[in-house]
Amino acid sequence: MLIRHAPDLTDNDVTDRSLYLRRREFIGGAAGLGLLAAAGAASARGLAYSPGFSTTETPTPKKDITSYNNFYEFGVNKEDPSENAGSLKTRPWTIRVDGECEKPASFAIDDLIKANKLEERIYRMRCVEGWSMVIPWVGFPLKDLLTQVKPTSKAKFVAFETLMRPSEMPGQRWDTLQWPYREGLRIDEATHPLTILAVGLYGDVLPNQNGAPLRLVVPWKYGFKGIKSIVRISLVERMPATAWNVLAPREYGFYSNVNPAVDHPRWSQATERRIGEFRRRETLPFNGYGQYVADLYRGMDLKRNF
Ligand code: MTE
Repeated sequence: MLIRHAPDLTDNDVTDRSLYLRRREFIGGAAGLGLLAAAGAASARGLAYSPGFSTTETPTPKKDITSYNNFYEFGVNKEDPSENAGSLKTRPWTIRVDGECEKPASFAIDDLIKANKLEERIYRMRCVEGWSMVIPWVGFPLKDLLTQVKPTSKAKFVAFETLMRPSEMPGQRWDTLQWPYREGLRIDEATHPLTILAVGLYGDVLPNQNGAPLRLVVPWKYGFKGIKSIVRISLVERMPATAWNVLAPREYGFYSNVNPAVDHPRWSQATERRIGEFRRRETLPFNGYGQYVADLYRGMDLKRNF
């Protein structure tokens, strides 16, 4: 088994913030949690915690993060991914990084986990459907991977693809979306220090329903930009096609920055319901990360570029 739980903490315990914080001290001290064991060399260095980027808001209980999901390859209801994603085999798993770069390469997931410095990042996640969570991810900056393949000056965008395997992903037998799921970022968004590839959450290996073994996390954008179970990352010259934009271009734009001033045709984006809370709260521009990312969009009309 890849993961060994800390002996005095169970999944239920981590719903309590004080215990979770104690657990985080364990992680910082490299106390032998599974992900660190899997990380091998990285465990010697411990799991870095990035207070500058992490929110101090209370993390959403792990049971909610892992049972209220969108992962259409496993069904369209929120409970479908946790019920069905066990069929996905996440080993062996290779990620191809190619396109406009000097050194295209394929990486085995466990080599990526070993080679990169894993960090905990506690980020807000805002779904375009009007709900939000606070998720303690474990991952590493996407920039660290992209630098390795040496992007050329033609690399203006980054395109991502999920695995295509209908035998293990039953939703791919239906035309809900054009498969495989695709996403994209501009190169400056992809190399921004807030943008990470996650391999875990709550100090453990990423559950299948959350996008194992590797998923994108871009906290200032709507959750659907966070493509799961990635097998290909391509540096490209032109803006790539993205799954939701192909399905409904008037509803889902390429940028999809969280923006309370631009409503989705079916959902107001002014407020959101934090999972576990009753009252709705105001949605913040760029999901509250404006101080880090607003400059990326200086001079752009964000109503048109939604
Ligand atoms: N990635 C793939 N491959 N397939 C999907 O259906 N759903 C997206 C995104 N990534 C999706 C995906 C949507 S709509 C959201 S809101 C987030 O994953 C949900 O992530 P979570 O289930 O970990 O909260």
